[in-house]
Amino acid sequence: MKWQDLYKKRSTTAEEAVKHIRSGNRVVVGHATGSPELLLKAMVDNRDAYENVEIVHMVSMGQSEYCLPENCSSFVHNSLFAGGTTRKAIHDGRAVYTPSHFSQIPRLFTEKILPVDVVLCMVSPPDEHGYCSFGVSVDYTKPAAESARVVIAEVTPNMPRTLGDSFIHVSRIDHIVECNSGPIIMKPPAIGELDEKIGSHCAELIRDGDCLQLGIGAMPDSILGFLKHKKDLGIHTEMFSDGVVDLVEAGVITCAKKNFHPGKMVATFFMGTEKLYKFVHNNPMVQMFTVDYTNNPAIIAQNDNMVSVNSSLQVDFAGQAASESIGYKQFSGSGGQADFIRGASWSRGGRSILAFHSTAAGGRISRIVPHLDEGSIVTTTRTDIHYIVTEYGIADLRGKSMPQRAQALIAIAHPDFRDELRAEFRRIYNRDL
Ligand code: COA
Repeated sequence: MKWQDLYKKRSTTAEEAVKHIRSGNRVVVGHATGSPELLLKAMVDNRDAYENVEIVHMVSMGQSEYCLPENCSSFVHNSLFAGGTTRKAIHDGRAVYTPSHFSQIPRLFTEKILPVDVVLCMVSPPDEHGYCSFGVSVDYTKPAAESARVVIAEVTPNMPRTLGDSFIHVSRIDHIVECNSGPIIMKPPAIGELDEKIGSHCAELIRDGDCLQLGIGAMPDSILGFLKHKKDLGIHTEMFSDGVVDLVEAGVITCAKKNFHPGKMVATFFMGTEKLYKFVHNNPMVQMFTVDYTNNPAIIAQNDNMVSVNSSLQVDFAGQAASESIGYKQFSGSGGQADFIRGASWSRGGRSILAFHSTAAGGRISRIVPHLDEGSIVTTTRTDIHYIVTEYGIADLRGKSMPQRAQALIAIAHPDFRDELRAEFRRIYNRDL
């Protein structure tokens, strides 16, 4: 059958499509801004037909109504990265968190460690050959769709057609729901005075011709504003947002010095505004790959002068970074932090940066601490850590002994906490600073 005929035959409404979900199924949802909100709403509206449907995804930028207490007999959320709409359900015991490096998530599905019954996703309309693009969310969404028994897709002209390893053929989609929705819009974060100080410190560590990864959160985003005077930067990252577009337009990001995928920006998902989504549409400079490729440390390390920029919640004297939990509470997820820090450390000329405000809770808590809080999860180990940056400067921990690490970290802690931290240093290391 011609793909055009298949497309017509398989086109349906969201209400009809979600009837193919059965009680006890595992449903994997398209990631982040690629979340198919129309299908999810239809699924939640049909809750009385289900019991114990497992909803699996990483970052949710949508409504996540299946996490609400009134829906918990129909759905249980299995989170691969907690976010604003799912965190409470995890803390309250209605949802669970499963740890995994981002690079390893596709294997959970393709190797049937977590066999996938249904994928709900959003794609671009088919091209003349019948291929739809996963657009802003290729990451685990494509491998999950390739291993699912049933694929249900929202097809919308608002999804950018991104290029690379980003396509699915119409014949592989079981139920097609044409709509006029689009990827979720994420406004750039507000950048404060402290972010500016941190951004300028990070910029000192970035050289002309470096290849960058920029993580999630306000901090990595704020750094971009301080790179306007750099030359020929490259991008090999898991995600990027609007700030990168400005630097391409300003001629700062050219990818001309990249030794691996030269001339191309490599990514696996996007979070931004219409400006970003317009930029990546049909843009041959932007190459999308699944996350088991972009985040594979051995692939990342092929880029010379790879610099990863991420953030953390708490770092102890040894340089262990708790970037995803606050005590026992899961705040976010491991994501690609360790993937990129490992990859950057194996790259020729590579460097990794973890940047964050020196304090939290309105200045009441130091984020540099003698030891991590009880229950806190180590996202990056002390043996992988390299640069830590706060508004007070840069600590280079590579090759430093334990007392030297503590000393370097205390020097960039908030001054209000330095005496307390020095006292702990004396107690632990039996010596003065
Ligand atoms: N104790 C208590 N509260 C803390 C804290 C601590 N040690 N550290 C931070 N907080 C609070 C902050 O005050 C802030 O609260 P607010 O929203 O009420 O102001 C909140 O936690 C978030 O902190 P912030 O630094 O603003 O977070 P962010 O949005 O910049 O994200 C991470 C930072 C670390 C959570 C995020 O980068 C992450 O999830 N990283 C792990 C995964 C990763 O790096 N992936 C790589 C690429 S995707």
